[in-house]
Amino acid sequence: MFETLAAAPPDPILSLIGLFRDDPRPGKIDLGIGVYRDAAGHTPILRTVREAERRLYESETTKTYVGPAGDPAFCAAVAGLVFGEAHPGDRLRAVQTPGGAGALRVLAGLIARSRPGVTVWVPDPTWVNHISILADAGLPVRPHPYFDPATGGVRVDAMLDALRGAAPGDVVLLHGCCHNPTGASLTAADWDAVCDVITSRNLFPFVDLAYQGFGDGLEEDAYAVRLFARRLPEMVVAVSCSKNFGIYRERTGAAFVLATDAARAAVAHSQLVVVARITYSMPPDHGGAIVRIILADPSLTADWKAELAAMRGYVVGHREALAEAFRRRTNTDRFDFLTTHRGMFSLLGTTPEQAARLRAEHAVYIVADGRINLAGLRDDQIEPFVAAVAAVCG
Ligand SMILES: Cc1ncc(COP(=O)(O)O)c(C=O)c1O
Repeated sequence: MFETLAAAPPDPILSLIGLFRDDPRPGKIDLGIGVYRDAAGHTPILRTVREAERRLYESETTKTYVGPAGDPAFCAAVAGLVFGEAHPGDRLRAVQTPGGAGALRVLAGLIARSRPGVTVWVPDPTWVNHISILADAGLPVRPHPYFDPATGGVRVDAMLDALRGAAPGDVVLLHGCCHNPTGASLTAADWDAVCDVITSRNLFPFVDLAYQGFGDGLEEDAYAVRLFARRLPEMVVAVSCSKNFGIYRERTGAAFVLATDAARAAVAHSQLVVVARITYSMPPDHGGAIVRIILADPSLTADWKAELAAMRGYVVGHREALAEAFRRRTNTDRFDFLTTHRGMFSLLGTTPEQAARLRAEHAVYIVADGRINLAGLRDDQIEPFVAAVAAVCG
């Protein structure tokens, strides 16, 4: 059976975990995988998550199946968080999914069922798994300009031009906030312009919202999704609760479909349930139950928002500290773009060779494309990291 298979290439991000773990050098620095870490270098369990788990342990009465659509109360709670005042009512339907990646996969499957072979435009660059997930669903992917390495910002005009050249009905995958891997974000005015092009070209938005609350705030980071929900007839949104609730391994997310009317939404939802059923049958319950419990209790919700704000503040603080350290070390403002980026990531502008040298010569682990996870950097690692980058980049 397996003699026709070639070994899969190692995942560029996940392979760093093993390399880092096996590196005996003291002072090694891991800015690879995209998880939040606190000042002690630890990925904590939030106190509100602990409290929700305690309540769940005491109140849970069964472990029977949840069904392919997951828990409707979880879906409704996440809809409130994501769509807020812009909730489009019964034109919006959801299923609970195994993480944001599960949401992306079932939505890609839904699109492939509805419009086989439709082109999906993705930012250049994008999260590598986007391309694999879309390709696995049989959808051709085309890049549109996004990141400008010269400025560290977004090539908004080039992006809009490319989208104006898309065929009516094409799908546009957009990072709702905190772009991965670049960190470079669209402004509200940019989003308005993107929305105009989507309308005028009759494109279909596919929004990936994996970091709500890690950029500028829960409301601010939902700007694009809410704008689209108000102004556009249709879209899909993949939501992850992994980062903002810190429940990465519980595999918690949601897939939303917005349709022109409630009847079409119900039909799309029924197909989404089928895709979920044949893909993984049903989502795991534990993470969804945690989120539902937190969002159902106003005092737990308020405390969770405070915990999220602290994580956000920690990363933003690191951006300032890192840019300042680079300023002192290089006598230039070359790395000031770090302060304009949002979310856990930034593209540093290093080449794959420089990333390999950082690892080999300085025990600094960054992704080959130059992505760094700012939440992975402890305060005492800022200076050694900056020295290593300066040594390698000259
Ligand atoms: C842009 C983006 N989308 C989606 C995901 C999926 O997150 P998860 O499946 O862990 O919830 C990630 C995770 O790294 C991501 O970076």
